[in-house]
Amino acid sequence: METMVEFLNWFDATTSVESTVAKARSDWRSRIAAFEGYADLPKERSLEIGFGGGRLVAQASKDFTEAVGVDIHEAFHRTREFLALQDVQNARLLHRDELPSLTHGSCNFIYSFIVFQHFDTMEEVDFYLDQCARLLAPGGRCHIFFGRTDAGVRVVDAKDFTKRACSLFIEPPLFRERAARFGLKSLEYEDRMRRDITRPEGPDNVSVQARVLLARVAD
Ligand SMILES: C[S@@+](CC[C@H](N)C(=O)[O-])C[C@H]1O[C@@H](n2cnc3c(N)ncnc32)[C@H](O)[C@@H]1O
Repeated sequence: METMVEFLNWFDATTSVESTVAKARSDWRSRIAAFEGYADLPKERSLEIGFGGGRLVAQASKDFTEAVGVDIHEAFHRTREFLALQDVQNARLLHRDELPSLTHGSCNFIYSFIVFQHFDTMEEVDFYLDQCARLLAPGGRCHIFFGRTDAGVRVVDAKDFTKRACSLFIEPPLFRERAARFGLKSLEYEDRMRRDITRPEGPDNVSVQARVLLARVAD
């Protein structure tokens, strides 16, 4: 991956840095931050689960004092390069294993977009739900987008896996039930979303993702 575009394209199809930034702005405004109450959230710290090239961390950095991201890939230096290109100076990137080092109740907003569908076990879902319950600040919100299926849980075998393909699909009510086990209540959800929000609903315009907005039951 020599160029920045090649690097960004690995995570989300793109042909230029500008189009990545434009798409990130649109995903941020019309999906990730598009829920009632976002404007009123305290904006001290956000956390992205699976930041990839950093396009959404760059969006979060405009709203939050600190925009943290966690991932497992081995090219954090390229993500930092992208963030520097965008003049982002308040981001912090952590490896998955460093996540427990974040203080309890220290995140006002946790979000994850096109990531849970790339996990290959429900244990990984549980790891992050547990961390979300631990890290959410009182009154905080967690917005998770995940791969959906109509029945149960479907895991795609590693040998059938191709670049950008999804590996984990969860029936939305099961996901919400799972979150409840960790003390997270579902405030709003969409089990069937449009893939392209500029086009009308229809059988040819269905996203592979569903979404759920979570808060601590204790709040
Ligand atoms: C398709 S990219 C999405 C990146 C970013 N959320 C975006 O919308 O541009 C998926 C990202 O999830 C990350 N990922 C996959 N499994 C993960 C895990 N178990 N923990 C954290 N990140 C993970 C990958 O390394 C990759 O960066």
